[in-house]
Amino acid sequence: MRRRRIYEGKAKVLFEGPEPGTLVQYFKDDATAYNAQKKGVITGKGVLNNRISEFFMLRLAEIGIPTHFVRRLNMREQLVRQVEIIPLEVVVRNVAAGSFCERFKTEEGTALPRSIVEYYLKNDELGDPLVTEEHITAFGWAATQDLDDMLHLALRINDFLSGLLMGVGLKLVDFKLEFGRLWDEEEQMRIVLADEISPDSCRLWDLKTNEKLDKDRFRRDLGSVAEAYQEVARRLGVLPEAGPVDLQGPKVVQ
Ligand SMILES: Nc1ncnc2c1ncn2[C@@H]1O[C@H](COP(=O)(O)OP(=O)(O)O)[C@@H](O)[C@H]1O
Ligand SMILES: [Mg+2]
Repeated sequence: MRRRRIYEGKAKVLFEGPEPGTLVQYFKDDATAYNAQKKGVITGKGVLNNRISEFFMLRLAEIGIPTHFVRRLNMREQLVRQVEIIPLEVVVRNVAAGSFCERFKTEEGTALPRSIVEYYLKNDELGDPLVTEEHITAFGWAATQDLDDMLHLALRINDFLSGLLMGVGLKLVDFKLEFGRLWDEEEQMRIVLADEISPDSCRLWDLKTNEKLDKDRFRRDLGSVAEAYQEVARRLGVLPEAGPVDLQGPKVVQ
């Protein structure tokens, strides 16, 4: 079956879904970092991120967080509701890491006095700059009410995922969320969690050793990148049965 390809991003491809208002998210093994200046492939990443993101979205739905996730279709694809993406990356930080350390000259690993939520504009040309509520509302990227909804959802997601991950020996250092707008039959708009939650979008450290089990292994050339993604999937109980040998999955049919 030929499907219309709607968008090809750095880590995923979006196809037209089987029903109106749906999309298929295809997870690639491609990895990029530093605004796509660094490119590579992490074998099996797409298969694992598809599973890991499914797992998180389902658990979040159970606690009443609205998400775009409908169901997993196969090794690399999931059906989602099409939303109007709000062009912001909502970042929640519990521990100083990455660009935060450069900005404030803090040592990586410093626990923050409380969780900090930041907004970045999703714009590759501008290098995803940090923006404030003032910029967001003045330029109309989101309304004050939307921001309030996203902030509260992000903090609830942080509390829930921090606990869930601690239970499997992982520290949720920080993560990035994307939200979208969805309209129901009564034309009522709702903000829903979209995109993905995976080791591409989270910093996850082993609780005991502080070993990095996320995309920083790729960014910083630390080695054992695919193994780190597998370890996260294994701890969450979603590593595919066949294990690493079967992580290639089916090739995209087009
Ligand atoms: N439910 C959805 N509806 C519409 N667009 C979505 C949805 N979920 C995620 N997206 C968008 O699809 C793209 C996913 O592909 P990705 O490779 O992550 O792209 P990018 O390189 O822009 O980060 C992103 O631009 C993301 O904002
Ligand atoms: Mg993306």
